[in-house]
Amino acid sequence: MITVIGAGKVGSAAAFDILRYKISDVVLIDANENLAKGEALDMMQAAPAIEFDGTIRGTSDYREMHDSELVIITAGIGRRPDTTRLDLMKTNAQIIRSIVKEVVKYAPESKIMVVTNPVDVMTYVAAQETGFRRCCLFGMGNILDSMRFRTYIANELNVSREDTRALVIGEHGDSMVPLVEYASVSGIPITNLLTNEQIEKIVHLTVSSGADVIKLKGSTVYAPGTVIAITADAILTGRNRVMSVSTCLNGEYGFSDVSIGVPVVIGKEGVEKIIELELSNQTRERFGKSVAALKEALAALSS
Ligand code: 2OP
Repeated sequence: MITVIGAGKVGSAAAFDILRYKISDVVLIDANENLAKGEALDMMQAAPAIEFDGTIRGTSDYREMHDSELVIITAGIGRRPDTTRLDLMKTNAQIIRSIVKEVVKYAPESKIMVVTNPVDVMTYVAAQETGFRRCCLFGMGNILDSMRFRTYIANELNVSREDTRALVIGEHGDSMVPLVEYASVSGIPITNLLTNEQIEKIVHLTVSSGADVIKLKGSTVYAPGTVIAITADAILTGRNRVMSVSTCLNGEYGFSDVSIGVPVVIGKEGVEKIIELELSNQTRERFGKSVAALKEALAALSS
């Protein structure tokens, strides 16, 4: 079973995709019980059409998460024009700390996927609070950035999106690092197919992609929802997929005491292995800046 905490737009979209792809039964938990129940009821009424015969429950009772293999945390406030990044971070860190206490109490054997932003900082906060083994707790951010990178590569070349392969590492935020040197279309490096100007445009679009949607409709919903579901699928089915997630580094890539996006193998045990890639000098420098930005945020949070 999967528990999704937070029945807002992203949490509900993720829950529905988990049902639609028949990945698991879902418990949807929200402090607003009516919202959680209403979303679950709405989804259940779609179940015959999507041929889902399992269960979807909405509740505000954390005890219902017991026996969950995976707990996905989407709860938290979003950025408003009058909220600073630090305010957002402080409020969401409090929310995350109180939620993970419940996870430790009722689903101590589960894996935790943190989605709440700023996700790398929240993943580190959750890791500190729970003491969960590193494999069992990670943040979802760069997988979404990687999908957006792939989308723009395919659009620029007018080829199938399915044939694109690409990774983004670093912060899920402005300092993210799309890995141009490892991006390909059916194994053909994109550097053989696109000019430097085209690649720069794609990288720029990837970095601003989340903000571009937020500017137009207030929040991102479908892309994060679907990406959460495919990541959940990798864990529940043990598919050992290679994706970038936010994980606490312990000397890998030369850094420690920070949670940041790097490529990993994700399977039954959660983060089964961190893949340490050879990076070009320029990419290593950008990744270092991303680590520095996150460490600064963590320092501001604890000051
Ligand atoms: C996204 O990138 C805002 O993290 C959210 O869609």
